[in-house]
Amino acid sequence: MRFGILTGGGDSPAINAATRAVVLAALELGHDVVGIKDGWMGAIKNRTLKLTAAQVSGILDQSGTILSTSRTNPFKIKDGEKMALDTIRKNKIDFLIAIGGDDTLGVAHRLAQHGLKAIGIPQTIDNDIGETDYSIGFDKALNFVMEAIDRLRTTAHAHSRVIVVEVMGRDAGWLTLLGGMAGGADAILIPETPFCLDKLCSNLREMRKQGKRFAVIAVAEGAKPDDAPEQFSKIGEVDSFGHMILGGIADWLADEIRDRTKFETRSAILGHLQRGGVPTAFDRNLATCFGIAALNAALEGKHDVMMAIRGHSFVSVPLAKALKKNRRVDMNTLSESKFFLKMAMRDYK
Ligand code: F6P
Repeated sequence: MRFGILTGGGDSPAINAATRAVVLAALELGHDVVGIKDGWMGAIKNRTLKLTAAQVSGILDQSGTILSTSRTNPFKIKDGEKMALDTIRKNKIDFLIAIGGDDTLGVAHRLAQHGLKAIGIPQTIDNDIGETDYSIGFDKALNFVMEAIDRLRTTAHAHSRVIVVEVMGRDAGWLTLLGGMAGGADAILIPETPFCLDKLCSNLREMRKQGKRFAVIAVAEGAKPDDAPEQFSKIGEVDSFGHMILGGIADWLADEIRDRTKFETRSAILGHLQRGGVPTAFDRNLATCFGIAALNAALEGKHDVMMAIRGHSFVSVPLAKALKKNRRVDMNTLSESKFFLKMAMRDYK
């Protein structure tokens, strides 16, 4: 049997651990593995290479992806889908393991309707893929956000400043909420719950009155005040999957807080620093198990499925189900965390 592997979308730490696991386990069982370079762009352009044990040796602790990635949507390129399927046929790939976020896996699912035998592995620092508790890379990014907030807190404290820190996550506030909680942020603003700027500022003033002279505010790039029509985007462009390229809220918010409270204020944007660094043990093991589970699923004849972790079990779920709804922070199921959002919630009781 011949397996293909492709990595697509925004990268996250520990993708290589999944690639390594698939290759080593497949070779051990006497199968072949073909890597497709550059995500779906490489599938369209037939950029492939045979993967050997030597090629995946020493990559367990490396972030990024040895196969490279892209944000390419074959359905937006003339004959893209046909060219991608031709590459699969030419390279005699029986099953394609696609490692990526909802866009990459969405393409795999659409191509599955045209005969591709696809198995998805969820990877994104946003942790917003449906049906799985965790996606590869989230844990490392989360720890990075926590450490960044720790560092910002000491300088905020030393200078008696308000520091606003912008965290990735597009429409899902997991990184901001859990990183903010772990880092002890004074206010946490996430896309799922539009915030009230007046309330935030009056709470900051109140904190000062009570003697706390500094604050760290964790804000998701996709968060917005409850009276703003849309999310912040400095560039104002969309990617090939139609997502607005977000960014800029931390600078805006720091200026607003300075104008309204007269406190000394700074902003920090964590940006793509969140995508790198040495993968954590959790992410490496998650990725390794996803890789083995994907291979096993294929050998059992499953396809058009995504591997998922639920509690301590690895399961396969139909790609259609996993892609139906993004995984967002739900205040009803995570009611404890509501306490940490209250600083800027208009209706918090
Ligand atoms: O999809 C993951 C993500 O990290 C989002 O949180 C962020 O908005 C986006 O990628 C940034 O993507 P790019 O690397 O294309 O700038």
